[in-house]
Amino acid sequence: MKTTLIAPSVLAADFGNLQSETLMLNRSQADWIHIDVMDGLFVPNISFGFPVLEVVAKHATKPLDVHLMVDKPERYTARFQKAGAHHITIHAEATTNLHRALQEIRDLGCKAGVALNPHTPVSVLEDIINMVDIVLLMSVNPGFGGQAFIPGTIAKIVKTRRLISESGSNALIEIDGGISAANAGLCTDAGADVLVAGNFVFSAKDPEVVISSLKNNIKLY
Ligand code: DX5
Ligand code: ZN
Repeated sequence: MKTTLIAPSVLAADFGNLQSETLMLNRSQADWIHIDVMDGLFVPNISFGFPVLEVVAKHATKPLDVHLMVDKPERYTARFQKAGAHHITIHAEATTNLHRALQEIRDLGCKAGVALNPHTPVSVLEDIINMVDIVLLMSVNPGFGGQAFIPGTIAKIVKTRRLISESGSNALIEIDGGISAANAGLCTDAGADVLVAGNFVFSAKDPEVVISSLKNNIKLY
């Protein structure tokens, strides 16, 4: 069986205890640490920026998977790399120069990711699929944690998986938003490689147990 990568989202963590939350993720079966950056323009919410990423980077022993929900993200990719990002994912909807921006991320030595909002068709990936390491499909509208998973995401995963195999790309498919035990298996069966989980992990009594359950596809509830 193929193993699923788990990327807990720090957006749902206790910011007053960011160091201990990061140490918990280091101990857990999490594979990546997902960092949601929101600019109040591309999405109707503001989360955090460089100082918070730097705190997590100081303590983390796992790759930092930075998801930029930021307009014209090419303005900031070099700074995020400097602040500790290993992966930088930008939205197709946020830049008119997607091809160049992805190339710049790879030139910085980071893994390059492209994210699609729920309304954006998979076909926009056709001409850049061989330039990306990660395709992030939003399974909620970006901007907030704790929203309900959009069921149409499953068909989109299947389409993305087909595009990736037809193009010979090695990109991983990452699903972001509303992930829980109720839909994690549906996503991985459809072809997802990486699951982001915010509230499902951090609102649990024992986040480490929930991370293992997602990783090993065990239903706790
Ligand atoms: C939404 C963010 C997600 C979100 C996931 O805009 O990109 O990463 O924090 O949180 P949950 O799992 O709570 O939906
Ligand atoms: Zn995210």
